[in-house]
Amino acid sequence: APIKAECKTLPEGFWSAVAVWIKKPHVINKRLCGVKETESRNVDREALGLFVNGLSDTALDFVSSGHKDTHENGKEWSYNVRTFIPKVNCYGSKLHKEAILKCKDPPQVTFLPFEEDEDGHVSYKESNIYQFRLTFQDAETWFLEFHGLSTDEWFSDGIAYPKLHWLRSDLLPKLVRWATECKTSEFKSTLSLLPVEKYSVKYQQLKEKYKALVKVWPEVTDPEKFVYEDVAIATYLLVLWSEERREKDLNDPQSFVDLGCGNGLLVHILINEGHPGKGIDVRRRKIWDMYGPQTVLEEEAITPSESFLFPDADWLIGNHSDELTPWIPVIAARPVIKTHNLSQNLKCQLLFSRWNYIMGLGSMCEKMPAARVSFLNAVCNSGVEQLGATLSRTPPS
Ligand SMILES: C[S@@+](CC[C@H](N)C(=O)[O-])C[C@H]1O[C@@H](n2cnc3c(N)ncnc32)[C@H](O)[C@@H]1O
Repeated sequence: APIKAECKTLPEGFWSAVAVWIKKPHVINKRLCGVKETESRNVDREALGLFVNGLSDTALDFVSSGHKDTHENGKEWSYNVRTFIPKVNCYGSKLHKEAILKCKDPPQVTFLPFEEDEDGHVSYKESNIYQFRLTFQDAETWFLEFHGLSTDEWFSDGIAYPKLHWLRSDLLPKLVRWATECKTSEFKSTLSLLPVEKYSVKYQQLKEKYKALVKVWPEVTDPEKFVYEDVAIATYLLVLWSEERREKDLNDPQSFVDLGCGNGLLVHILINEGHPGKGIDVRRRKIWDMYGPQTVLEEEAITPSESFLFPDADWLIGNHSDELTPWIPVIAARPVIKTHNLSQNLKCQLLFSRWNYIMGLGSMCEKMPAARVSFLNAVCNSGVEQLGATLSRTPPS
């Protein structure tokens, strides 16, 4: 695929694009929950063979084809290993991994899939070895090339082994696009805050546990969508909270209030999984009666005021909470502002905000001062420190 490169992003953009595919393949392969990177080191040409032990000479030649042997005494190769974490565990105890070899000159990266059994025995899937190379044609044009070692014998299952056609027709154009975009995000992706493996295991457990609700769902809304979405959000929170307890050596499960809780399923799951809390919504739902008395749900209109501060809750949750969205960080911060003790008292307040809603606000109010828009952006993505810092500088009116 040719890349017209008036843009100044190459060759660095190639590595940013490759990094997305290496670290976050789930962005485009929806059958993956993510990957876990286990090894990373720089090696020289001679040592390469040792790392990819068991690989045929043909495969080794393929890995270094196009590589200029500079005879410099540098470790010009980097070697990484990633383990695939499928959304549905279909591989049993066998781990599906990939060795990734990157070489700077010319820029190229090779993916060598292998399987590892419980005893640590490794077998490479040579039929599925593939490579991306960036080649420079002239001042205007670069080429991003896809090469497969033995494409006639290609095997695919759509998970750890994508289809050859998909790699060429879907992934390759995406890499081209990512390589030419100069996007840097100041915020971390939400999943990068969590150990993806723990998330995946917990999600499978909770999905199994709560799937029965899909059959008895009394609301008019689509049960599959709501149950599995709330299971995913609950999983995220439970893993995040358990990590927080481990890091801060806390014993008590975190408490919470879900503002604008809707059907209350998230509240139900979190309470059922041991966290004290409640949900509030201006409109009660039929399903509330099905949960049982331990799931505390209150019908009430929340107004941003003195009567709706929750100083005892460790976490405030507002998931797609409509017009409440911009108020949640403010409500979260209020008890803190009153005590003038931002960093100590602000425990952990969470905003699952409706990002689009806030962005919509930003674009609707074109005359809105940039500082206000950036305040809204900051609170929407805020971790404790960011929010504390923002509020201490510019308390919202
Ligand atoms: C888009 S729904 C989201 C529901 C739920 N959080 C979810 O993720 O499925 C927004 C909810 O916020 C509630 N809500 C909006 N404004 C509210 C207010 N001022 N007080 C209480 N609930 C409110 C609505 O009744 C609605 O159930």
